[in-house]
Order: sequence, then C-alpha cells, then structure tokens
Amino acid sequence: MSFKEQIIQDRIPRHIAIIMDGNGRWAKRQGMARMFGHRQGVETVHRITEAAAELGVEYLTLYAFSTENWNRPKEEVDALMVLLVDTIVKETPTLMKNNVSLQTIGDLSRLPQATRNKFLECIEQTSQNTGLTLVIALSYSARWEIIEATKRIASAVKDGELLLEDINEEVLSNYMTTAQMPDPDLLIRTSGELRISNFLLWQLAYSELYFTNCLWPEFTNEEFYHAIVDYQHRERRFGKTSEQI
Ligand code: IPE
Ligand code: IPE
Ligand code: MG
Repeated sequence: MSFKEQIIQDRIPRHIAIIMDGNGRWAKRQGMARMFGHRQGVETVHRITEAAAELGVEYLTLYAFSTENWNRPKEEVDALMVLLVDTIVKETPTLMKNNVSLQTIGDLSRLPQATRNKFLECIEQTSQNTGLTLVIALSYSARWEIIEATKRIASAVKDGELLLEDINEEVLSNYMTTAQMPDPDLLIRTSGELRISNFLLWQLAYSELYFTNCLWPEFTNEEFYHAIVDYQHRERRFGKTSEQI
C-alpha cells in the first residue's frame, strides 16, 4: 500500500514546516552548478505545495533563505534573489488555482527591492484565498526573530502598553513572526543533516521531527506522505504520561 493510502484523514498535521536542504549537493552529483539544484528545488516546492493543499494542511512553512545564507558567495545570493522573483511570478497563478494564500516571515528589508515587491504583490493577490497558507521563511533566523520580539516587548513595557507581569507564552507567541499561526506539528528536514539551523526555535518546542537522507530536489510526494504517516503513528505526550493521553 502506498504511503498516500495510509494517511489517516482526520489526523492531518495542521502545520508542517520544512527545512529544504540539499540543492547544492544534488547539483554537484549531476556534475552541475549549485544553481541547477536550486532551480530543481523550485519544482519540488511546486509539487509539495500542491500535495499539502490537496491534503487539507492549513499551514506549510518552507525555509527558503536563512539570515546566515547572506554569507554565501555573492554570485549564489544574487542568482537566488533572481530565482525567487521568477518563481513567485510564475507560481502566482498556481497559488490562485489551488486557493493558496502566501505569507512570508523574515527580515524582508534586507531583500533587493524587486524581490520584496514581487512577494508583497503576491501576498496581496492571494490574500483572499481560504485554503492552505504557504509561509516562506526568507532572510529568516529564529535568533533574529527572538531579538526583534524582545525589542518590541521591551518598548511596549517602556511605553506602558504592556505590563511586565502580563508577559506569558501567549503574549510572546504573538510577538513572533508566526503570530496567529499554530506551532508546527511536524518538522521535516531533507538531506540527512540532523540540525535545526536557526529555524523556528520558539515554535518547534513540541514539534515532531522527521529527518530524511533524500535531497530536496529528489524529495518525492511519497516521501512527503511517508513523513505524515510516520507523524500520525507517534504519541504526542506534551510532558504527560501515556495513560493521561
Ligand atoms: C538548500 O540547499 C537551499 C538553501 C539554503 C538556499 P543548499 O543550497 O543548502 O544545498 P546543500 O546543503 O549545499 O547541498
Ligand atoms: C538551512 O540550510 C537553511 C535553508 C534551508 C534555507 P543550510 O544549508 O543553510 O544549513 P546549514 O548551513 O547546513 O546548517
Ligand atoms: Mg544546505
């Protein structure tokens, strides 16, 4: 039986986050330049977004470019920024067709203006769609996010808009870039690396983690369904005992 057939319909994770890794290594294996891998990776984004929308996942967050990725060679960063614009222009009709709304998290002020504007246009254009919310983490890192939240909380306390004793988990969550979204139920990382790489450190506190050796350009829909089936057979205890669940 395929993994798709094994999926339990009433236990679909509401929020899936993915660290899309391995584009460069995949390209190298074909004897090609790293950008060839990034372009193939876009095809995987297209497929997995459609698959998630079809399953009824509410939020799909994709780590596309980290704060640390700004330190890559300039040619790769520049080419990635162009690829992002091309992709967003090309994919907007597909998002419309699949009733997907786009959001971004991260420090968009660091993006080239053309890239930022295309994203803002697509966010606006898809804002009325009611199906899957596709969240692209762009120029994002969790430590950057936590510092930003801390600054804004400190400023609200200083201005008398927030009382120190009222700060709790919910308040802090609402100062994160993911305010209004549920925490990820499932985190997938491709390419065999067993690390978080500064992604959603606050939000992943109780997420189920799934690592696969598959490189992102070769990550199939079946592999995606496999991760979901695996997730569905885990017991999430949130600190309680099995008997309490
Ligand atoms: C992930 O693939 C995409 C980005 C970080 C932009 P990589 O580019 O990290 O590919 P590897 O890890 O070098 O194979
Ligand atoms: C994490 O991948 C960031 C993205 C997928 C955008 P990296 O390839 O940048 O992470 P490290 O350097 O292997 O930790
Ligand atoms: Mg990598």
